Amino acid sequence: MQTHHRIYYTPAAPMAQLPDESVALCVTSPPYPMIQMWDDGFCRQDKTIRRLLSEGNGRAAWERMHRCLDPVWEAVHRVLVPGGVACINIGDATRTCGHHFQLYANHSRILAAAQKIGFTCLPLILWRKQTNAPTKFMGSGMLPAGAYVTLEHEFILVLRKGGKRNFNDTASRRGRQYSAFFWEERNRWFSDVWFDIKGSRQTLADAQLRARSGAYPLELALRLILMYSVQGDTVLDPFLGTGTTIKAAMICARNSVGYEIEPAMGSLLLPDPGAFRRRASEHIDRRLADHLAFVEMCQAKGKPLRHRNEFYGFPVMTRQETRLRLPRPVQIDLAGENRWHVTYAVPEGAGVSAETKLTPADNSASVGAGK
Ligand SMILES: C[S@@+](CC[C@H](N)C(=O)[O-])C[C@H]1O[C@@H](n2cnc3c(N)ncnc32)[C@H](O)[C@@H]1O
Repeated sequence: MQTHHRIYYTPAAPMAQLPDESVALCVTSPPYPMIQMWDDGFCRQDKTIRRLLSEGNGRAAWERMHRCLDPVWEAVHRVLVPGGVACINIGDATRTCGHHFQLYANHSRILAAAQKIGFTCLPLILWRKQTNAPTKFMGSGMLPAGAYVTLEHEFILVLRKGGKRNFNDTASRRGRQYSAFFWEERNRWFSDVWFDIKGSRQTLADAQLRARSGAYPLELALRLILMYSVQGDTVLDPFLGTGTTIKAAMICARNSVGYEIEPAMGSLLLPDPGAFRRRASEHIDRRLADHLAFVEMCQAKGKPLRHRNEFYGFPVMTRQETRLRLPRPVQIDLAGENRWHVTYAVPEGAGVSAETKLTPADNSASVGAGK
């Protein structure tokens, strides 16, 4: 099994390199309008924004920043397959521009644009970030009524192109079964508040790049890719930054394509392919180990799992998990300028039929827990 990955160092809209309906999932985080670190980028795209900011006309500047992003959302809609999903990580901004401190609700502005474009908006995820920011308490301190609550969350907007994606033929149904996640993962991931993903520490070697990377955690991209795509799909990130989405796609056995206007970010993608392969393996080992711990916990509670996975031989909660398998990246090759391919070891069957139901006596967490 192989996947293919490509970066275009050019503005994301209009995405002329990508045919219509060629991408199954978009996972991305744009520059956040009215967050100061992204002002220069927006001002380069639209010179009027600089004037509006200096005049203190925050609302008009904010709207023009979003008009820089709108064409990208239109292009994302065009390239998604019917039923394809776009996950957009965005934070709101608070700022004093002109006379008043106020909220710039980026998430609702993007949702409004998405609806106009024709996306189906699905329930969004509130990503609760831990923060030790010194500005935690803003405004008038201990005196009412001029204090402001601190923004300690970001959003992940979940948009779909039309209705549910179809998996009509045998091959695509099988691919979907291979891409299942564990029952206990589903219970954690499909909550509308995520507490368990810490903000990226951004320990990048280059300090200047670090300052303007705005990277999200690898774990966030991994989870969204596993939730909303299947192995062999193509995942798009129109605002690629340091390449977190591409790395997550490589780990999850998805193809990927990214756009980025800062070519310098490329140096941060895969400085050490060997170390990255080990990181990928750790992710897979951790999912398997966490599942085995879950099996043991159920066993200890006297609630053994009733099905067995075909490839690993271990017990699973539902029939949908019996064909779950995690391809493991074994080689990463440069395939040309800004292109890579990744080769995977795919688990072979453990000789267990998907029809096999376990009796309580069979329900041992150590059964064939191969990798
Ligand atoms: C919030 S950062 C994305 C960070 C990324 N998720 C990561 O983990 O590294 C947004 C990125 O979009 C890039 N960008 C801004 N406007 C763009 C455009 N029109 N086309 C492509 N990239 C753009 C910026 O240079 C920046 O690297």
